[in-house]
Amino acid sequence: MTPADDTTPYWTVSADFPRFEPLSGDITVDAIVVGGGITGLTAAYLLATAGRRVAVLERGRCAMTDTGHTTAHLTMVTDTRLPELVDRFGRDHARAVWDSGLAAINFIEDTAGSLGIDAGFTWVDGYLHEAPDAEPGREARSFRDEAALANDLGFDAEFVDEAPVVARPGIRFPGQARFHPRRYLAGLAHAIVAAGGKIYEHSEAGEFADSPRRVTVHGHTVRFEDAVIATHTPLVGLGGSTGAALFQTKLALYSTYAIAARVAKGALPDALMWDTADPYRYLRLAPQDGYDLAIFGGEDHKTGQAADTGQCYRQLEAQFARLVPDAAVVHRWSGQVIETPDGLPYIGESAERQYSATGYSGNGMTFGTLAGMMIADAILQRANPWAELYDPRRKALGRSLWDYIKENADYPYYMIRDRFAGPEGRSLRAVGRGEGKVIEHKGQTIAAHRTDAGVLVLRSAICTHMGCLVEWNDAERTWDCPCHGSRFKPSGDVISGPAESPLDPLES
Ligand code: FES
Repeated sequence: MTPADDTTPYWTVSADFPRFEPLSGDITVDAIVVGGGITGLTAAYLLATAGRRVAVLERGRCAMTDTGHTTAHLTMVTDTRLPELVDRFGRDHARAVWDSGLAAINFIEDTAGSLGIDAGFTWVDGYLHEAPDAEPGREARSFRDEAALANDLGFDAEFVDEAPVVARPGIRFPGQARFHPRRYLAGLAHAIVAAGGKIYEHSEAGEFADSPRRVTVHGHTVRFEDAVIATHTPLVGLGGSTGAALFQTKLALYSTYAIAARVAKGALPDALMWDTADPYRYLRLAPQDGYDLAIFGGEDHKTGQAADTGQCYRQLEAQFARLVPDAAVVHRWSGQVIETPDGLPYIGESAERQYSATGYSGNGMTFGTLAGMMIADAILQRANPWAELYDPRRKALGRSLWDYIKENADYPYYMIRDRFAGPEGRSLRAVGRGEGKVIEHKGQTIAAHRTDAGVLVLRSAICTHMGCLVEWNDAERTWDCPCHGSRFKPSGDVISGPAESPLDPLES
């Protein structure tokens, strides 16, 4: 085999993954998880650590199929651009989609940290930028508008005249991430087993049957209550072939290609980058000792519709050579991307107590993790703010009114965005009920108080005596000035001087 014929992904050769024996007898569990990729192992980990008896049934080896052929960008930024999301679904739904991505990235960081998994999780900037072969500057205005829209919805984003590497206009999204998916999932697999869960490799789920609910695996029977179908293209399972066919025919399958090339340290920034070409191209680093691997992908086409897939690699290499001439390509692989008609994944109950997830577009690691979290929540009967958004049986979400903020204000995932934001971009929604905070927002220093009823009261944080910044007094629920002792009500009215004027209203 020549190097060009070897399509083993970089992830496979750079991580040890534990091996698991095939199923060798009948078993009874609370939940089966069909598929040992990021969706299945995330769900299994959460269920096992919640005390459920779980069995993962993997047809081949875990983390080798779709999860093994990713480029592992972790980003809340969806393939469907934000203005289009807002246009299609309304602001609340669009905000919820990006929030859910941040929640998934946060989960990976937390879980890798708490389990001590060295998966190279690193926060990096993400850049959406004009394609190098596009008419220069043509998209600058739309990038500006999109960055402003993202800010408006509470996300950190900034227009840049020149994105790194390509020197083209774009948007910088701080607080995105990269990691090594197989190292991470190897850690999750160990944790599943440590929590009493079972993982069976080379154990293909065959016939499903009801009463009692069961599936056969090479002649053995697995009884279960809940089923997680985490096979990317969902299996029929207990759903019945008609329902499954309807579900599956909504999906469009694309092949995508990736190369990994050795580049000198510092030749490329440690960032996620993707452009506006159709299909788009994407770039990230996997740092090594003494050099960096640049992972570059693109050339998507509908699966089965490219006459010469070798040409896809050659084009990708030619495009990469324009960015970094003479870099040595050391790995090539291709993966599959699944799209839905409205651009949002399907995650949720696809038949009674059977949960499926698919349609992650280019955000497989982010949405796969989210799907594992959401399905575990569903099985454990915990509320989840995104259940309606990604319901596989959703009709059209449309721009229907949905007060996402009101309905989910007390949900623990809700504050996630604020944890990622720097002081400049910190959302006003970081202010909890009954609290006050001084916040930098759009160039203003704001004294922000949220009443017990949830209403935000905003005033300038600059003391009207001599210009010091006021501080929140939690016990008295007042704004106090540390310089000469002026005190103000949350409304800004003076309680005591030397200040004589109330805190100023905001400029806008
Ligand atoms: Fe605030 Fe003097 S500056 S009391």
